[in-house]
Amino acid sequence: MNIFADESQGLFHLQSKGTSYIIQVTDGYPAHVYWGAQLRHDSSLSGALELRERSSFSPTPLLSKTTLSLDALPQEYPQYGTSDFRRPAYQAQLADGTRLTELKYAGYVITPGKPVLEGLPAVYAENEDEAQTLELTLKDDYAGLTVTLLYTVFAHHSAIARSVRFEHQGEAPLRLEQALSASVDFADSAYDTLHLSGAWARERHVQRRPLIPGAALSLESRRGSSSHQTNPFLALLRHGADEHQGDVYGFSLVYSGSFAAAAEVEQFGQTRVSIGINPFDFSWLLEPGQSFQTPEAVLVYSGEGLGGMSRTYHRLYRTRLCRGVHRDQARPILVNNWEATYFNFDADKIAAIAKEAGPLGIELFVLDDGWFGKRDSDNSSLGDWFEDRRKLPEGLNDLAARVNREGLQFGLWVEPEMISPDSELYRSHPDWCLHAAGRRRTEARNQLILDLSRPEVCDYLYETLSSVFASAPITYVKWDMNRNMTEIASANTSPERQKETAHRYMLGLYDLLERLTSRFPDILFESCSGGGGRFDPGMLFYMPQTWTSDDTDAIERLAIQYGTSIVYPASSMGAHVSAVPNHQVDRITSLATRGDVAMSGNFGYELDLTKFTDAEKTLAAKQVAQYKEIRTLVQQGDMYRLQSPFEGSGDTAWMFVSEDRTEAFVAYFRVLATPNAPITRLALKGLDPALDYVIETGAADQPAGHGSDESAAADHSTEPFQPAFGGTPLGGDRLMTIGLTVSDLRGDYASCTFRLRAVQR
Ligand code: DGJ
Repeated sequence: MNIFADESQGLFHLQSKGTSYIIQVTDGYPAHVYWGAQLRHDSSLSGALELRERSSFSPTPLLSKTTLSLDALPQEYPQYGTSDFRRPAYQAQLADGTRLTELKYAGYVITPGKPVLEGLPAVYAENEDEAQTLELTLKDDYAGLTVTLLYTVFAHHSAIARSVRFEHQGEAPLRLEQALSASVDFADSAYDTLHLSGAWARERHVQRRPLIPGAALSLESRRGSSSHQTNPFLALLRHGADEHQGDVYGFSLVYSGSFAAAAEVEQFGQTRVSIGINPFDFSWLLEPGQSFQTPEAVLVYSGEGLGGMSRTYHRLYRTRLCRGVHRDQARPILVNNWEATYFNFDADKIAAIAKEAGPLGIELFVLDDGWFGKRDSDNSSLGDWFEDRRKLPEGLNDLAARVNREGLQFGLWVEPEMISPDSELYRSHPDWCLHAAGRRRTEARNQLILDLSRPEVCDYLYETLSSVFASAPITYVKWDMNRNMTEIASANTSPERQKETAHRYMLGLYDLLERLTSRFPDILFESCSGGGGRFDPGMLFYMPQTWTSDDTDAIERLAIQYGTSIVYPASSMGAHVSAVPNHQVDRITSLATRGDVAMSGNFGYELDLTKFTDAEKTLAAKQVAQYKEIRTLVQQGDMYRLQSPFEGSGDTAWMFVSEDRTEAFVAYFRVLATPNAPITRLALKGLDPALDYVIETGAADQPAGHGSDESAAADHSTEPFQPAFGGTPLGGDRLMTIGLTVSDLRGDYASCTFRLRAVQR
């Protein structure tokens, strides 16, 4: 890690672990020279920016090269209106109505560590040796605008964190119409794009396609949240790069609201990638003396394919985005009552499930929706955060005590950002929701959204939730959010600031979360938005895990969890075993397979344990024991994806390896049975080729030749793993080349798992 600044040459060379990023100030414009594998720093780098003069219709304002247009200059923070016709990174409207500004380089500072982004989630450094930050200052004196580009490099991560600060020192108000977090111009277009798209219950499917000249890949959310449909992430992969090799460039936005990301190929074959707050329906008024800080974009370079990029994001987000006491702690195995009971429960039913969970080794009970107000369905009570004495006659505290007596911690579901029109809160404060005066208030799931851009609404939520969280021994909170925004307007905001509402909402939410998580540091928070509708780095800053999807079907989850792992670590993914037929897709899979899929995230159950047969209980107890053996590996190890559900048969495999490479956990999932299929060998990754490993199979898996969970449960040994390959250790080199042979699996939707441990031969 190092930042070299040669001001006489206008050159800035940023070295993060394993990567270099080079900026050359040209005629006052910070131009982008290079981003990729790390380079030695020497004086020759100042000649690396090649500017070719070309014929085009684009005007040519650059003084030193009379025929060079900004339209051809690769830029760090491109502006609008002075000859660059590509996508700008920002646009400002001055008091006279004009929309052009011209930012020119005005100086720099380099500071150790990483500054906090006031009011926004961001990656952090724990000490000054871990990171270094370059602030490049640009000025437009006519507008009175100062723009600071922030770049942080890291000693231990091949990442660069970028954001932008606008400060207005002019005399009349100025309106930002657009303020992206980062823009990078690549010299050519021999790349594929990769992004994560989906829908509710089908989140984050991997989409890859080549860039096309003259066209842009444009990703966005206009929903007021990062969305089920498109994740705030975009990558470029060099042609030929794959999971394990080749150059990959990731762009991930630390933001939970509407965003935009784009990759466009222009006339000279260059590619511009940008990411930030969605300019659609956004503007921000800057009065003289005011400033605006954009969210942060985290740029990751990998020379080791997509897998290398993902592992960098995983490590960085796990250790320097997530915070709090739970960051490095083993996450509890839970049972949640949502798919077990929906709204139909009482205290005795909950206690009965907890009673079954204790002997299985489950550690936490989560009471989901329906415990408050008069909520017997989804058509009332959001906002009335007091216990429903019809269902919980002795109250929450008493129920928590009953759950605790079964040996489980107690967790609670809330959906604080919402308000039901049928609620006491709405009857008292009908103007507290997002709405436009005189217009219909569009409901979704019979609910409206509280206007978190209003401080008094956030204060009310802070007080109310604080008293709920303090009212019982609550160690876990699931924070849900079940609709997208409509009628984005605030009763509290002046007409000229209405387009600030969606971002002000996010700032209000972040502030509320900061206050609550600081006041309740021991509570483990999990975010949720109808499953994965807000699975983004912004939420992970406050809550280290997210409910990955409302789709709990094991086979659908292969694609969802695989796609999610492109950016997010397994420790951030909630993954539960649910009942069959599955409630979302009606598919029937074995308990063994459901367990193996859920074990690749934060493991739990979401079904009525009182309905388990004895055989199912035996199997579940083995699963819980198995997960306890491997959870540190899954939650803190390096993930290697071995086989993609998006390619070929849909069969899927992945593995987790400890940092010292002495332990690994491998999971393989075969979707449909095939007669006379070739032998399946998994070429493992990330092991130490010089070490030998003993291999064991998961005792809770479905053994070959048997089709039922009864048979897996029939083995009464309490050991969660059993020796494989006759107990003979196998070399890491062999396992990574010849591979690990998967024994024949029978039936559809089958799976098997392996634990590897290094031994002295
Ligand atoms: C949506 C969540 O994703 C579910 O897990 C559950 O908590 C329901 N909301 C409750 O309404």
